[in-house]
Amino acid sequence: MADLFEQEAAKKIAFLSQKLNRCNYHYYVLSESLISDFEFDHMMKELENVEKQYPHLVDANSPTQKVGGFITKEFQTVKHKYPMLSLGNTYNENDLREFDQRIRKQIGSNLEYVAELKFDGLAISLTYINGKLDRAVTRGDGTQGDDVTQNVKTIKSIPHQLKPGTYPNEFEIRGEIFIHKKTFERLNEKLRKELEIKGFDEDEIREKLYKNPRNFASGSLKLQDSLEVSKRSLDAFLYFIYSPSPVAETHFESLKLAQSWGFPVSDHYTLCPTLDDVFSYINQYDKERKDLSYEIDGIVLKVNNYRQQEELGFTAKTPRWAISYKFKTEQAVTLLNYVSYQVGRTGAITPVANLQPVLLAGTTVKRASLYNADEMERLDLHNNDTVIVEKGGEIIPKIVGIDLSKRSNSSLPINFITHCPECGTLLERKEGDALHYCLNDKNCKPQIKGKIEHFTGRKAMNIENLGTETINGLYDKGLIKNSADLYDLIFEQLNNLEFEIGEEGEKKKRSLKEKSAQNIIDGIEASKKITFERLLFALGIRLVGETVARKLAAHYKNIENLMRAEKEDLSQIHEIGDKIAEQVYTFFRTPENCNLVERLKNKGLQMQISDDDDEGQKSNKLSGKSFVVSGVFNKSRDTLKKLIELNGGRFVSSISGKLNFLLAGDKMGTEKLKKANELGIKIITEEDFDEMIK
Ligand code: IVH
Repeated sequence: MADLFEQEAAKKIAFLSQKLNRCNYHYYVLSESLISDFEFDHMMKELENVEKQYPHLVDANSPTQKVGGFITKEFQTVKHKYPMLSLGNTYNENDLREFDQRIRKQIGSNLEYVAELKFDGLAISLTYINGKLDRAVTRGDGTQGDDVTQNVKTIKSIPHQLKPGTYPNEFEIRGEIFIHKKTFERLNEKLRKELEIKGFDEDEIREKLYKNPRNFASGSLKLQDSLEVSKRSLDAFLYFIYSPSPVAETHFESLKLAQSWGFPVSDHYTLCPTLDDVFSYINQYDKERKDLSYEIDGIVLKVNNYRQQEELGFTAKTPRWAISYKFKTEQAVTLLNYVSYQVGRTGAITPVANLQPVLLAGTTVKRASLYNADEMERLDLHNNDTVIVEKGGEIIPKIVGIDLSKRSNSSLPINFITHCPECGTLLERKEGDALHYCLNDKNCKPQIKGKIEHFTGRKAMNIENLGTETINGLYDKGLIKNSADLYDLIFEQLNNLEFEIGEEGEKKKRSLKEKSAQNIIDGIEASKKITFERLLFALGIRLVGETVARKLAAHYKNIENLMRAEKEDLSQIHEIGDKIAEQVYTFFRTPENCNLVERLKNKGLQMQISDDDDEGQKSNKLSGKSFVVSGVFNKSRDTLKKLIELNGGRFVSSISGKLNFLLAGDKMGTEKLKKANELGIKIITEEDFDEMIK
C-alpha cells in the first residue's frame, strides 16, 4: 500500500497538474492569463520537484512533460483509420454556385453550411482514448502518415488530457498545425542574427532562412528533437471530429463541443443558411485576413448536417460535402528581360530575374530572386518568357510560374552560368550545397569590394562615413584594393574626389566634400583602436563570425599565436569544429592574407587582446537571452552588463515584447514593472540572475 507521503504527493501532483492545465488552456486557447508567468513557473517548479521525488507517479501527459526532450530517430508510419482526404478547390463565385447546385440536386434544399477559415499549415490527426491524447499523425499520402506524437505534445494549445465532457471513448480530431506570423518573423530574425554571427553572407543567409510560415511549421514537426520543436511556438486549430458514432447532429455543434472539451477551435466559424451569407463571409475575411495573427489561404465550406454529409459521401479524393475557396494572391504578369548573377563577398552566386517593370501590390517590381540553380531548373526558364510574379510571405517577389502559351518555339532555355560573370573563373558547387561559388577571391571585383565593406562594417572596424558607394568609388579609382590600403589613404587623395554611383544605365557623378573626406580619414584613424577580436571578425575569414572571433582572440591572445595554430589545435577549442579550424588554418597559410595582416600590424591596428580585456566569453549560459537591468543592486550596473555579455547574453536598454528578462533591483520604476508585466516578460532578482550564471 502506498505510504502517507506518497498519497499526499499523488494528491499534490493531481492538484498542480489540473491547475497548470487550466492555465495553459486559458492562456493558449482563450488568450487570457489566469496567473502571472512568475506564478505559473513557480507552480511548474513545485510539480517538477514532487515528480522528481516520486518518478513512478509521473503521468505521460503531465504538464511537465509538455516541453519534450525526446529524440525520435525515425518516425513510425501509421495507417489512418479514416483516410485523410483533401478538399476540392474553387476560386470564384461561379464554382461555388455549381458546388451548391450539385448538393441541392442530391439532398434537396433544406440545407445549411458552416463556413470556416482555411488555415495555411500542416494537417494533423489526433487520436484521443478515454480523454487522453494517444497519437498524433501527419497526413502523409492520405492513407498513412508519420507518428509525430512526441513533437505534437510540445504544442501547448493541444490538450494532453481533455476537460470532463461526453466525448466518445476513442475518437479522432483533425486540424491544422501552424505558426503565428509574428513568431515566424521573430524566429527568422533570430536565425538571421545567428547566421550573421557565424559569418555567412547575405546570399547564404537568404538561402538558409525559412521561406514561409507553412514550410516552417511542417519542417518543425519533422524535427527529431522535440525539445527543439517546443522552442518553435507552434499552435493549432482543430476542425473536424471522426468517431464511430457522431458526437452531435451537426458539424457546428461538434465544433462547439470540441471547444468545450478543451480543444483549440478557431472562433471564426459561422453558420451560413444561404450562398449569399457565404459570399459575405468570404468578402469579410479576404479583407480581414491581413489582421489575423496567422496565415489563411481561403475559406472552407462544409455541409452542416452529418446525416446529409453521409448521404453525399466522398469521391476517391475529396468529400462531396465540403469544398475550399482560395483567396487570390496578388499576381502580376510580365516579361523576363534577362537573368543576371550577383557575386557576394564569399563568392556565392545568386541569380536574379530582371523584369519588364510591373505594378504589384502597390509597388513596382523590376527584379525577382531566382535563389539558385535548382530553382531555375525547376522553373525551366526560357529567354523572353512571360512570367507570373507573386509577393508571398517573402519580401522579395518571386516567379511562381510561366505562361507557356506565350513562349515562342525558337526560345531557348536559360542555363545557369558556368563561369563567374565578373572575373570569368569556372564556378564550383560542392556536393550538398545549393549555391555555386567563384573561388577567385583575390581578383574578383565584387568579392574584393564586399570584403572591404565587411571590414569597415559597424560590427567590424566600424569606420563611419565609408559606405558601399564610397568604397566602390575608391576601388574604381584605384585607391584601394584591399582593407590595408585604407590606412594609406591621405586627405588630399579624398578631398573633391569624383566618382560614379548608381546602377548601370542610371549612373550619377558624386564628389567628396572636404568635410566627408576628413570624416573618412578620422574614421580610419579611430578604427586603429578597435579591439583584436573585432579585427579578427573584420578580416572576413569564412565561418569566423563575431562569436568565433571572440573565442579565438580569448584563446590565442595575439595574432602570432593564432597564425601559428595547427588545425588540430584550433579544433580543440570549445565549439570550434573541424570546418572552422580548416578555414582559419587555410586563411593564415595564404601568403596574400599574411601580407595583409602584416601591413595592418605595421599601421598600428590591435593585434592582441588588451591588458584590461577580460579573458573573453566565460559561458554560453545566457546565449540568445536579452536583459533589461533596472533598479539598485549589490553589483554595479556595469558589472551586471559585463556578466550578461560574458555569458553570451544581450544587454538592452528598453522593454519590448522581444525581451526575455527584466532584472529587477530595489527602487525600480513602477512604469517599467507594469510594462514588463503587461508584455508577460519574466522578472528576475539579482539572486535569480546569479543562479543562472553559476
Ligand atoms: S476540412 C475531409 N477544414 O486544407 C475534410 N481543412 O486543401 C478535411 N485545411 O488537407 C479537411 N483549414 O489540411 C478542413 N477549416 C478547415 C481547414 C482545412 C485548412 C486544410 C487541410 C486539408 C487541406 C485541403
